[in-house]
Amino acid sequence: YRGSMLDVARHFFSVKDVKKYIDLLAYYKYNVLHLHLTDDQGWRIEIKSWPKLTEVGGSTEVGGGASGFYTQEDYTEIVNYAASHHMIVVPEVDMPGHTNAASASYPFLNGNGKKVSLYEGTNVGFSTFDTRKDTVYAFIDDVVREISAITPGPYFHIGGDESHVTTSKDYIYFVEKVEKIVQKHGKRMIGWDEVATANLDSTSISQFWASKENADFAIAKNMKIIMSPAKKAYLDMEYDTLSKHGLHWAAYIPTDTAYIWTPEEYEGIPIKNILGIEAPLWSETISDIDELEYLAFPRAIG
Ligand code: ACM
Repeated sequence: YRGSMLDVARHFFSVKDVKKYIDLLAYYKYNVLHLHLTDDQGWRIEIKSWPKLTEVGGSTEVGGGASGFYTQEDYTEIVNYAASHHMIVVPEVDMPGHTNAASASYPFLNGNGKKVSLYEGTNVGFSTFDTRKDTVYAFIDDVVREISAITPGPYFHIGGDESHVTTSKDYIYFVEKVEKIVQKHGKRMIGWDEVATANLDSTSISQFWASKENADFAIAKNMKIIMSPAKKAYLDMEYDTLSKHGLHWAAYIPTDTAYIWTPEEYEGIPIKNILGIEAPLWSETISDIDELEYLAFPRAIG
């Protein structure tokens, strides 16, 4: 598993831009493009049974730019283009947190007790689905079913990160229910490292980004882990203090730092648990292909 993630939720990237990224990644023998399709600031994939997700939730992005979304035909075009470059697409619908755009579209989903409106800022951790409503799971079933039907790859990513306003009891209940929904639609679940706090099947996959403790939970469950340590693999971290784009909450990542590390030595995670590596590119600070390339290259090669 040699992946990169592109966040098309904070800023939307056109099909043309995504194809250009696929060209570059395929040249360096990446075989996975993970698309972060939903977040607080935008919902980017058409769901035919829930049209307001894109009508309402797809109308905003960070800073109030042009925004947009993929029709299912657009998404299929990306998937087919990736396949012709020996790459699979992993779709991510981030939940139960990072769901403000979904809840602004359909307020019954909201579980944070506040009135929801569209959001164009960059704070994290304020949104959550209502984890105790059957209708929320019926909604999720539709979303996972529609996206899985047009995704030939074996994985469905449920996000699961930074659900700071979901109680841990509700979070665990939610992740265990959503794992079953993903399996019902024929996919293998991936989630950010927090999902391993739930009682998951060993076939589900944890994506390490920050927490060794969560990695240990995954190892104890005999789960596979995708290595994406923010201090090494996050393509959206600034190179240094002069970086034109990027954030630096995890680290500054000069080019050599992105290259000089070894997945099985980084946190001592046993190599038998490591499915592969992924370099995520979050898009709070970038909105076009030139800015994308500035952050991704040369670090993605390392
Ligand atoms: C993450 O960086 N919130 C996975």
